[in-house]
Amino acid sequence: MNERVFSGIQPTGLIHVGNYLGAIRSWVDVQEGYESYFCIVDYHAITIHYDPADMKDRILDAVASNIAAGLDPEKCSIFVQSHVPEHTELCWLLTCLTPLGNLQRMTQFKEKASRQPEHVSAGLMNYPILQAADILLYKASIVPVGEDQLQHLELSRVLARKFNHTFGQTFPEPQPMLVQQAKIMALNDPEKKMSKSLPGSYIALSDEPEEIRAKIRRAVTDTGPSHEVMAPGVKNLFMLLELEAFAPGDIVRYLRGAYERRYLKYSELKHAVAEALVESLTPIRERRRELLARPHILEEIVAEGAKKARTIAHETMVEVKERMGLVSRHKRA
Ligand code: TYM
Repeated sequence: MNERVFSGIQPTGLIHVGNYLGAIRSWVDVQEGYESYFCIVDYHAITIHYDPADMKDRILDAVASNIAAGLDPEKCSIFVQSHVPEHTELCWLLTCLTPLGNLQRMTQFKEKASRQPEHVSAGLMNYPILQAADILLYKASIVPVGEDQLQHLELSRVLARKFNHTFGQTFPEPQPMLVQQAKIMALNDPEKKMSKSLPGSYIALSDEPEEIRAKIRRAVTDTGPSHEVMAPGVKNLFMLLELEAFAPGDIVRYLRGAYERRYLKYSELKHAVAEALVESLTPIRERRRELLARPHILEEIVAEGAKKARTIAHETMVEVKERMGLVSRHKRA
């Protein structure tokens, strides 16, 4: 069987280099060899405070940024979660199989709930079930994600197993595909991950060169190279540099060597990181801008993507309902 790939991204803010290096870049690779579905998960994005007035723009921005970064609608399906209602339908069926304790234990749930204690909705807690439904709906066996999504993916596997055990073999157990080492940390607080919801933490794919340089200049490093262990901020800058395709190997080797011998100037490291980012993000920024100037094309792309996605989603739901005893054996008139 042709293995299917599924992954998703939330339209909660500008797409940043953490998303790009941790996930989107591997989506671009896998679209070449697998039947791939990439989804803008707007239903996930409404589990925290958001402004309805700019949701549509956020969704279009996510589509444009992903295509600008290399997704090709001829090679994969790109679509919006709410355009395929089977996601929420399967979510409900899986909700009835999910132990409450598994949800309450989720790190991201606890983190997000603590950020907005006045509004902890059932939707926020059920978020990982919707994520499992996203994946299982397409019977995807490979899910390219960043490290922060591993706990959610584990629940998808638990639910696939539980469904198969209760109702008969239906779903493959989805496996994560990880980019080694690629957990990009917040520039202004390198103990936390780079995130759309942490202002000052990220470099967006849309940032202009001067913004990139200024943000990298302000990035937290350490108070001086004392070096028993490399400070998280310095490690993060090296990771950004090494993951960037445009960073020349000899510069990286020179900077690593300077660090080992304790004469590295962080201003030099920052300059190299900023220039590598400017170089790799410039074509993406320009392409994104061109795409956003023609929103009707983006709308056509996601309409076509949803059409392809719905064919599979519909087949899965017929099978799932049949197995769960929800479809009458007698043909309806
Ligand atoms: P989201 O929108 O937070 O992030 C999209 C992808 O980017 C990765 N990522 C990172 N990787 C490295 N370093 C970082 N600092 C960083 N920040 C984000 C994420 O791991 C992710 O792969 N719950 C998911 C969206 C989702 C999903 C799915 C993913 C919904 N349904 C089904 C896979 C399969 C999320 O919030 O991603």
